[in-house]
Amino acid sequence: MKNSSKILVTGGAGFIGSHAVVELTEAGFEPVIVDNFSNSQESALKGIEAILGHEVKCHRVDCTDTQALREVFVSEKDIAGVIHFAAYKAVGESVAEPLKYYHNNVGSLVALLQVMEEFTVTNLVFSSSCTVYGIPDALPVTEATPVKKANSPYGNTKQICEDILSDLANSGTQIKSIALRYFNPIGAHASAKIGELPLGIPNNLVPFITQTAAGIREKLTVFGNDYDTPDGTNIRDYIHVVDLAKAHVVAINKLLFGNTQKLEIYNVGTGKGNSVLEVIQAFEKASGQKLNYQIGPRREGDVPKIYADVTKATHELGFKTETSLEEALRSAWNWQMHLEKQTVSK
Ligand code: WQD
Repeated sequence: MKNSSKILVTGGAGFIGSHAVVELTEAGFEPVIVDNFSNSQESALKGIEAILGHEVKCHRVDCTDTQALREVFVSEKDIAGVIHFAAYKAVGESVAEPLKYYHNNVGSLVALLQVMEEFTVTNLVFSSSCTVYGIPDALPVTEATPVKKANSPYGNTKQICEDILSDLANSGTQIKSIALRYFNPIGAHASAKIGELPLGIPNNLVPFITQTAAGIREKLTVFGNDYDTPDGTNIRDYIHVVDLAKAHVVAINKLLFGNTQKLEIYNVGTGKGNSVLEVIQAFEKASGQKLNYQIGPRREGDVPKIYADVTKATHELGFKTETSLEEALRSAWNWQMHLEKQTVSK
């Protein structure tokens, strides 16, 4: 459906946000980015422009700053909806700096909702996470799987944010929200002009793999191979970031043009689990690179295995992922090589 509805995308210069800005534009929406660049880089704006052939407007604003958000809503007339990505997401960092995470992740949602109510902007897509499930008792996890005590402050902020949306939904608000529980986003846009830009040593598996293959890291350490899984290594649901971005287009369409309850929650994954060793093998096949890795000790706080039941998103949103693990890993490798070229050319 062609429409020029204006969508505010907080964290729109980030990994998932930048891919969502591209997909929203290609679906006929008019995204406007709100980002304070505390965990993203201006180069993402250039990458988006290179893909779309035009600039996307960006307000350099901290989403915990209610007054600054008000000024954005004043200057951007007729906002049809908001997609809220802006948050910190490093599990380990959240254990070391919990207040930074509670202030930013919870504070930004509260500030945003207050301003949305003031301006009667009534459609919100919220970036949640499978971390709300903790260590599930049964797999695959459905949206009805009991939310357990999160095993990190980061995961707890996502649980608190979902509680805020639930309490707001029960308060008679006009705001309708869709919370998307992401599994493990990987890969990059086919153009290799936008992708994951981890600052410093990557926490996540796939950027560590691509940096090892590029010679930036000496070797990958597999965090444990003594888990109760077929090959002993952890299992996750790895979803290509472009598929994940498309899920946001489907969700905002549902809010604007469909009918929903005041709050709906959906798992967004492939519905398939892959182990760390399977990811390594798929990467070697996709890239033609032999990966240097060793088996090391378990990582504190790791969930042994989790992957999504995607029935609800399939039935209610008509959403299904289209990209295989190997294709997603190939796109991650292409992005890494693009980054190398950029570094060399500087
Ligand atoms: C994946 C698997 C590790 C690095 C995190 C966040 C989650 C979400 C996605 C935002 C695990 C193993 C990793 C390494 C390894 N982010 N691994 N060696 O922990 O599943 O989830 O990112 O929503 O909220 O918690 O992702 O990529 O860190 O780990 O063996 O050097 O790879 O043990 O099994 P994780 P990850």
